[in-house]
Amino acid sequence: MTQTLKTIRGMNDILPDESAHWLWFEDCVRSVLESYGYSQLRTPLIEPTELFTGSIGETTDVIEKEMYTFESRGGSSLSLRPEGTASLVRSALQHGLIRAQQVKLWYSGPMFRYEKPQRGRYRQFHQIGAEAYAQEGPDIDCELLLMGERIWKTIGLGGIFLEINSLGDAQCRQLYRGQLTDYLQDHRANLDEDSQRRLQANPLRILDSKNPDMAQIIELAPKPIDYLTEAAKEHFDTLCRYLDNAGLTYRVNPRLVRGLDYYSRTVFEWVSGELGAQAAVCSGGRYDGLFEKQGGKPTPAIGWAMGVERILELLTIQNKRVASTKPHVYMVLAGENAIEKGLILAEHARNLKPGIRIRSNLGGGSFKAQFKRADRCEAEFAWVLGEDEIASQSVVVKYLRDKDVAQCTLNVAELGNWIEKNIEL
Ligand code: HAM
Repeated sequence: MTQTLKTIRGMNDILPDESAHWLWFEDCVRSVLESYGYSQLRTPLIEPTELFTGSIGETTDVIEKEMYTFESRGGSSLSLRPEGTASLVRSALQHGLIRAQQVKLWYSGPMFRYEKPQRGRYRQFHQIGAEAYAQEGPDIDCELLLMGERIWKTIGLGGIFLEINSLGDAQCRQLYRGQLTDYLQDHRANLDEDSQRRLQANPLRILDSKNPDMAQIIELAPKPIDYLTEAAKEHFDTLCRYLDNAGLTYRVNPRLVRGLDYYSRTVFEWVSGELGAQAAVCSGGRYDGLFEKQGGKPTPAIGWAMGVERILELLTIQNKRVASTKPHVYMVLAGENAIEKGLILAEHARNLKPGIRIRSNLGGGSFKAQFKRADRCEAEFAWVLGEDEIASQSVVVKYLRDKDVAQCTLNVAELGNWIEKNIEL
C-alpha cells in the first residue's frame, strides 16, 4: 500500500476554517496600514543569496544556520527569503521608489527559516510588515508604533507589551563595540562555542544568545543605551516623549538587541506573556545603514514585521476570533427543474446583495440528505425550491438556527426586502 504524502516538518497547511480567520485578520491589518498611507509592495519569494547575507549579517543565526539556500540551474546561489526588509530595500533601489515618493510600504507573505520547529516557531511562517523610508524620525518611529497599537485594538488583541531600546548610531556603536568586546574578552572562558567564535566578528550578537548558561554574562554586560551620542540620545528621548504624549504604554528594555545586524538606533518588540518561549508577536526598528550597504545613497529607514501565526494563536487563546464564512443560505433544490431555476435564483440574490454567502445544493440528493448538508455547513437559513415554488415564483424559507421560528413562503419579488432584513454581512 502506498502511503499518502504529508507536509514537511515546520510547514503547515492552513485549512479552510483557519483560513477564514487569516483573511479577516489580513483585511483588518490592511485597512489600518492603508489608513496611514502605506502601499503594498510584493517581492519574489526567492532572491540572490547575497542579498540576505549582505543585509542581515554573515554572523547572525538566520544567515549561519537558517536559510534555505540552493543552487539554481544556472549555477547561482539563491535563497528562500527569511524576512522581507532586505527585499523591500532591494526593490526600492531597483525601481527608484524613493525618488517617486513611495516611501511607506507594506508586505505580506510566507518567510522561510530552518529553525527547530516548536509552538509559535515554524520553518514556513507568515509576516505582515511595514517599512518607512527616507525619514529620520523620531516622528515616524512614533507613528509606526501607534499604527501597531491601532492594529491590536482593531482586532481586539490584549495582553501584549511594547519594549523599546536604542542601539545607537554608527558612532555610538564603534565606542560600544570596543567596551563590549573588552568585557566579553574578560569572560571568554565562560562563553559558549558560538559566542567565542563571534567575539571578534560580531560581539553584539552574543547578547542575543538564548543559551541559559550565558544569561548572567549577558545580564552584566555593558548596554548600548549607555553609550549613546548626544544626537542618538536626543532621538531616543524625543521618541519616548512622543509616545508618552500619545498615551502609548511601553517599557525601555536596555537588553533588547534584536537578532539581525542591520539595526541602529530605535529597536522594539511587542511581546506576549501567553505564548511561551516564542513571545514576540511583532518586532522591528531602524536600519539607517541598509540602503548604503546595498549600494544606495544613505537613507534612514524603519519598520516592523508581525508574525501572523503567533497573533492568530493569541487571538484563539483570548477567544477573539470573529471571522465566519458559514453560508447565510443553503439552497435546497428538489428536482431537475429546481436545479436550473435555483442556479439563476442564487445569482439573482448575489446581485441583490453582493457578499451574501449562498451554498446551492449541487449534485442532487434527497430532501433529508440536503437538509443534513445544510446543518453540517451551519447555514443560517434554507431556501427550498421545488415544483410548487417554481410554479408560484416563490421559495420556502426555513430558519435553521432557530427551529422554533415557523417557516414561511416568500415571493421571489420580495427576496430583496427579506435579504435586507435578515442577512447581515
Ligand atoms: P524578526 O524579529 O526576525 O524581524 O521577525 C519578525 C516577527 O516574525 C517576529 O516578531 C515573530 O513574530 C515572527 N517570526 C519570526 N520567526 C518566526 C518563526 N520561525 N515562526 C513564526 N514566527 C516567526 C524581522 O524579520 C524583520 N525583518 C522585522 C523588521 C521589519 N525590521 C524592520 N522592518
